[in-house]
Amino acid sequence: MGKKGITILGIESSCDDTSAAVTIDAKVLSNIVANQEVHQSYGGVVPELASRAHQQNIVPVVNQALKVANINKEQLDAIAFTRGPGLMGSLLVGTSFAKSFSMSLNIPLIAVNHMKGHIMAHFIEDGQKSPLFPFICLTVSGGHTQIIKVNRDFDMKVLGETLDDAAGEAFDKSAKILGLTYPGGPLIDKYARQGNPNAFVFTKPRVGDLEFSFSGLKSNILQTIQKETKKDSNFISKNLYDLCASIQYTIISILIEKIENAVQKEKITQIAIAGGVSANSELRKTLLDREKSHGWSVYIPKFEYCTDNAAMIAIEGYRKFKNNDFCDSFITAKARIKM
Ligand code: KG4
Ligand code: ZN
Repeated sequence: MGKKGITILGIESSCDDTSAAVTIDAKVLSNIVANQEVHQSYGGVVPELASRAHQQNIVPVVNQALKVANINKEQLDAIAFTRGPGLMGSLLVGTSFAKSFSMSLNIPLIAVNHMKGHIMAHFIEDGQKSPLFPFICLTVSGGHTQIIKVNRDFDMKVLGETLDDAAGEAFDKSAKILGLTYPGGPLIDKYARQGNPNAFVFTKPRVGDLEFSFSGLKSNILQTIQKETKKDSNFISKNLYDLCASIQYTIISILIEKIENAVQKEKITQIAIAGGVSANSELRKTLLDREKSHGWSVYIPKFEYCTDNAAMIAIEGYRKFKNNDFCDSFITAKARIKM
């Protein structure tokens, strides 16, 4: 029996997760993610170690994605890969693999923007409701923090972005100050549940209505910790839950404030979030509260489509496939790339 629909292999290797997914049209057959534990003790991703781990993982991860999807490589219609933005050494692994694989199979190659992939995760058909156009999307990851207006036909306009650190970096760097392992975002989220969000007050940045800045917050947290540990060397362990709750509260209120500004400016109440930080429980809860109190329609992707994954790359690949938007084998990875 012949297969129905367009079958795409998605490849994602922009940061520290090696991922491969197989989709048929907008449905996901497999979405395999290999995390790299090698970075845990460094407090952040070490680019050189990340590219080496991608090199080790890419073939087994792709094999696993094909196996779980029960698809032969000959059944693939195209290969979609993350071209950027991301870490150059990491991107090169996925890009080179995708180019060689598409050449050997003689099938088209599709270059995908990682951030568009995060947004397109909302359109994966997996029991999720998808936003209606136009909508506001807050993309919050370890590398990016942007407020985007997504118009019809997937034109996207960046309304505002961070001037320094990304929201995920703010979580991870704060966690590092607290002595937590990388990535610290999920740990702060976990410990915050047992803490008081008003125990400590941290500064909020003074920047434009739709701009973000998190570097001042990081310095503020560092100063507080240094001052208090001078008085009591066990300050962090005694106050870990309250510190996590207060840090999380500050970061999330900054994000929510910016969404509110965008809603007011654009008169759009369809609100979506994307990127790793959209896994944060406080952000999810606050947005769902706003849905009730402010009449917003809030869209949060399934957990596995929030953090870096190849299903979102394959889905954007599917859209580009339908538009005949392919690339040739001269394509190169790009660490910095515009929406
Ligand atoms: O999108 P993503 O997987 O990778 C990038 O493209 O950066 O995002 C990873 C980021 C990390 O900074 C991580 O700490 C953060 O998302 N993150 C969280 C949570 N889960 C992941 N931050 C706060 N709360 C979480 N539950
Ligand atoms: Zn990402």
